Amino acid sequence: MARIRNRRDLLSPKRFFGTVSGAKHHGRFFAGFESMMGALENPEEMKFSAFASDSMVVWNRCLSFLRDPFFRGIADDPNNDTKDRGTIWRTYLLEYFAQVASGHPGDFLEVGCYQGHTASVLCQRVDFAKLGKRYHLFDLFEWNEGDPHLDLPALLEPGLYERVKARFADKPFVSIHRGPVPDTFPGNLPDQIAFAHIDMNNATAEAAAVEAIYPRLPKGGTIVFDDYGWWMLSDQKQAVDRVLANTQDCVLELPTGQGLLIKRG
Ligand SMILES: C[S@@+](CC[C@H](N)C(=O)[O-])C[C@H]1O[C@@H](n2cnc3c(N)ncnc32)[C@H](O)[C@@H]1O
Repeated sequence: MARIRNRRDLLSPKRFFGTVSGAKHHGRFFAGFESMMGALENPEEMKFSAFASDSMVVWNRCLSFLRDPFFRGIADDPNNDTKDRGTIWRTYLLEYFAQVASGHPGDFLEVGCYQGHTASVLCQRVDFAKLGKRYHLFDLFEWNEGDPHLDLPALLEPGLYERVKARFADKPFVSIHRGPVPDTFPGNLPDQIAFAHIDMNNATAEAAAVEAIYPRLPKGGTIVFDDYGWWMLSDQKQAVDRVLANTQDCVLELPTGQGLLIKRG
């Protein structure tokens, strides 16, 4: 059996068990996970550092985001929404790409901000005031019978728009636009966009958003799609791919289910 030779060089192992989308029996799911881990023996230590959440089960990873107090804090805080805790790997990637894009000309967009979780993370980590950039948040802030997007719990309660406004009240660089994308774009979309996070669970609206945003990205401008790689939402991937078919760019599917587009020229 292979052995790890230089144990001194190994980081401490990290483990994270979060949300399991679609699991009817969480207990059975995690018992199965432990059973899989128990089958590893070459070397068996590889099971020590493992992650099971957000439709991903991986082992033998450094899990850098669990070593960063900022992201570990989000994942561990019981006051945070379970989904926001379980999607911590996605949030870590989002923040990284946002930091990189902040060096490019243009403003930032959150297209589908819901309660403002991911927007709030970027407000804490990107110095918008110093960069002189604005951050535009778009959302319907409601769900009505027949709407194609998910009927997430906070959309069904009145007052979501007011709560999100209050959440960002001390951030003068944030503008919040209420109503359906793309109808809310004219007059509100910046001429140049350094970074957009598109997360509407709504194929038609996402395609319309990309159509409007893509021409405004400078070289190096970035779009992160939250749902691009999710098979159960694959109408979104198909709609976005159709919009980009006549450009020189395409979206990279990430293991987290997100999609990444960095404009080439
Ligand atoms: C999954 S949530 C966004 C979560 C958010 N990005 C976060 O992680 O904090 C999807 C949001 O997209 C919004 N949405 C769906 N279709 C929309 C449309 N056509 N225009 C504006 N917002 C839309 C919904 O109201 C919902 O709040």
